[in-house]
Amino acid sequence: MPEKPVSSTEISRRDAFKVAGTAGAIAAARPLQGAPAIQKVRAASDQVQFGMIGTGSRGSYLLKHLKGIDTGRCIALCDINQDHLDKGAETIGTNPTKYKDYRELLGRKDVEAVIIATPLFVHFPVTRDSLQAGKHTFCEKSLVFKPEELHALRALSNERPKQIMQVGLQRRYSRFYQAVKDMIDKGALGEVTNMYAQWNRNPGWTMKPGGRDNMNNWRLFKDMSGGLAAELASHQVDVADWMFGSRPESVVAVGGHEFIFDGRDIADNVQLIFRYPKGKKLVATYISTNSHVPMFGGTRTEFGEIIMGTEGAVEITVGDDTHPAMAVFYPEPPRPEVTHAAGKEKKWSAGATMVSVGAQKGMPVLLAKDELSPNDSFLESELKHGRRLLYSKGIMAPEEGRNPVDLELEGFFNSVRTGTRPKADLEVGLSDSTAVMLSNIALEEDRKVLFTEMDKMGLGNKT
Ligand SMILES: NC(=O)c1ccc[n+]([C@@H]2O[C@H](COP(=O)([O-])OP(=O)(O)OC[C@H]3O[C@@H](n4cnc5c(N)ncnc54)[C@H](O)[C@@H]3O)[C@@H](O)[C@H]2O)c1
Repeated sequence: MPEKPVSSTEISRRDAFKVAGTAGAIAAARPLQGAPAIQKVRAASDQVQFGMIGTGSRGSYLLKHLKGIDTGRCIALCDINQDHLDKGAETIGTNPTKYKDYRELLGRKDVEAVIIATPLFVHFPVTRDSLQAGKHTFCEKSLVFKPEELHALRALSNERPKQIMQVGLQRRYSRFYQAVKDMIDKGALGEVTNMYAQWNRNPGWTMKPGGRDNMNNWRLFKDMSGGLAAELASHQVDVADWMFGSRPESVVAVGGHEFIFDGRDIADNVQLIFRYPKGKKLVATYISTNSHVPMFGGTRTEFGEIIMGTEGAVEITVGDDTHPAMAVFYPEPPRPEVTHAAGKEKKWSAGATMVSVGAQKGMPVLLAKDELSPNDSFLESELKHGRRLLYSKGIMAPEEGRNPVDLELEGFFNSVRTGTRPKADLEVGLSDSTAVMLSNIALEEDRKVLFTEMDKMGLGNKT
């Protein structure tokens, strides 16, 4: 059956996102600016008084960003590792009280909110105790480690609706991801049917001296870690949940512990296919033997996602302190015009017909600040035209401006003060953890796992 021609409305939808850039333009983007180093002076009563539990690698990174956010003030830190604790206190610079036992931190009445960045197997006990101590709670992804923890945390958090529960899935706070979600909702990608995600590294995690006795190696052991699915796939499954607007129905996995033998027991390569309602799929790959990422013209080599619809695809990845965020839109090429074999009539044709429509050009996704508006002042309009011209020449690319980590942390304090539901809330976190846990079961048991299986898993076990 020949396909319909692209309608004028479809064409205008495409043009709405059209700036004549190339994927190469994106390479010119600057990394995101870190949060300003000095807090503005704000009345202490306005600031959310918070403590952090787990001041290792992620905790310190968050503290670096928290230093520049004046709606919260760090008054307490906890870690079982003295060096990490001292480094955390030095990073935040607010002279927080230091604790080795997190229950002492939770016992402080003046701590309103708690940020948790412990290893995955220590998420649930600390999050549970934090909620039970009456604290607003932010816990890093992946939220829970075991099915019984999922059910218990849902019940506990639902009993305490006034306490904020947020999860560290920072892509939910990225303006680029939000812009792409808007594009999808407006139909610019047509029907979104597939997503491809990649986070390949070489070699990825390495074993530090001390093997499993060294807590810094927790990621490499199954009794403490969900491996690549928990640490990497969790971010990208969450993107798929958000962009597809639904949650997976099933997952299959291929991979294993096959290439790196340094004492670890987790898989060193994992390939996952998630099936979503209406036949949508997320295909995701996490290998530790090659780092090539065929996205963004090869300019961003770490990780990214491609969201694919009948009218176009978007390549996207998140920014951090050293890398720019990127989002590039590739409209589908025009349907090929071919001469119908039976006559001279021109038809639109699908399939592998050869056409000379030229290479598919990528266009930077524009953020609201670059959209032209009739209300723009002369100066605003000139600036926007200038920026768009530079994007089109590949000299500059749209910038996110703020690291989504700053936005998620500001969002947490705002939710604490206003009661607003976080974008990455309990159910977003639990859905994400479900995908992680079931991916690992699919891998271990070499079978297709249905998401409905989680409803019954872990119910007999006490937490
Ligand atoms: N959102 C993101 O992009 C992102 C990035 C990196 C890590 N993370 C998450 O952050 C969490 C921590 O990862 P990391 O890389 O910082 O690990 P890490 O090992 O560097 O830090 C974990 C810290 O927790 C401490 N700890 C362990 N048990 C504790 C306890 N009972 N009480 C107090 N402290 C305890 C450890 O001593 C260590 O300092 C993980 O869940 C990880 O998935 C999220």
